[in-house]
Amino acid sequence: MKLIYNIGLLAGIQPEGVLRVEGEAQGKTGVLENAWLGIEDGRIVDFGTNAVIPGSDRESLDAQGGMVMPGFCDSHTHVVYAGSRDGEFLDKINGLSYEEIAARGGGILNSADLLHRTSEEDLYTQSLRRVEEMMAKGTVALEIKSGYGLNPADELKMLRVIRRIGESVPATVKSTFLGAHAVGRGYTHEEYVQAVIDMLPQAAEYADFVDVFCDEGFFTVEDTDRILEAAKHLLTPKIHANELAVSGGVQVGVKHMALSVDHLERTTEAEISALKGTRTMPTMLPGSSFFLGLPYGKAKEFLKAGLGVALASDYNPGSSPSGDMRFVMAQGCIKMRLTPVEAFNAVTLNSAYAMGVSRDYGSITRGKKAALILTEPGWDLTKIAYQYQTPFIRQVLL
Ligand code: NIG
Ligand code: FE
Repeated sequence: MKLIYNIGLLAGIQPEGVLRVEGEAQGKTGVLENAWLGIEDGRIVDFGTNAVIPGSDRESLDAQGGMVMPGFCDSHTHVVYAGSRDGEFLDKINGLSYEEIAARGGGILNSADLLHRTSEEDLYTQSLRRVEEMMAKGTVALEIKSGYGLNPADELKMLRVIRRIGESVPATVKSTFLGAHAVGRGYTHEEYVQAVIDMLPQAAEYADFVDVFCDEGFFTVEDTDRILEAAKHLLTPKIHANELAVSGGVQVGVKHMALSVDHLERTTEAEISALKGTRTMPTMLPGSSFFLGLPYGKAKEFLKAGLGVALASDYNPGSSPSGDMRFVMAQGCIKMRLTPVEAFNAVTLNSAYAMGVSRDYGSITRGKKAALILTEPGWDLTKIAYQYQTPFIRQVLL
């Protein structure tokens, strides 16, 4: 057993079997002061307080009074992309909306053109760098979507790169087929929806999930319904919904037992009622609200209704060029009025749930992976969100 001792604060303790937290429970988490934690074969085997540190004949790490917490889980990213879209940054600053940039052939199609011209090797190298940056900032499990290929060959190229990244890093990587991200060049809308359906069997050899950008100007509820119906025995849905308009994406996602519905910058009572009592995790992406100047998701109302909420980075070149989950947590507090513990659960346990890995990640629980952040002394869950830019990580244990 490897031992971490002298832990000032062990934060994020949950009993075995808690795979997500909802409503009032999202505002609670277990903590232990002056603690130790034992690890065997990469998993947490036990923890307790310093008063009874188990034998010191083992490999050990002095936490020097720092906090130990579960690493961040990022359930929604598009980090496999080519180049950047900084060329559109000025347009955005000058007042063009996300939709206007997309309508000019910029946006997702711009990234797809660039990806088409980029070799698979180069795409891998560029994307791996972003994942390494995320891990250095404390992310230990992440989901990555395709969706900048927009034709069979380039979508598969993306899915292969996602798989290869998963094989190259110690973080866990989940893969999502987002063929229905925008209509690929050279297709009519109808042709492209059919092409996505035709890609599903091959995509399912690589991906864990299927996603559709169900929103105004992209894919309709009817398109989404068709794609998810075709994906039924192949891939579990995770849906982009209600970013640009109240799209009906939440309801169609719930109908198909989506594991998560994501974005939700625009929601009404109807979405909250549709989600009640379902397996679907509402997931909000404050980084894209920040970058695009959209409303922030009404996380507090979801919690009041007894639902859980996850937060993820949406790391992508067009609406959130950052994978910093600590900043996501801070925005959860500052902009969405979540308490630090609510925001913490949103970026750990609930975001792990939203990509199907909360049996292994997202809390300090016996049997879970020891995928941990060890902080410098003096930090706690409130301070990391409050003083949100001061470096706090001493070591990410993966
Ligand atoms: O989640 N909304 C759709 N997809 C991404 C943006 C993709 C892009 O602009 O490149 C998002 O915000
Ligand atoms: Fe997204």
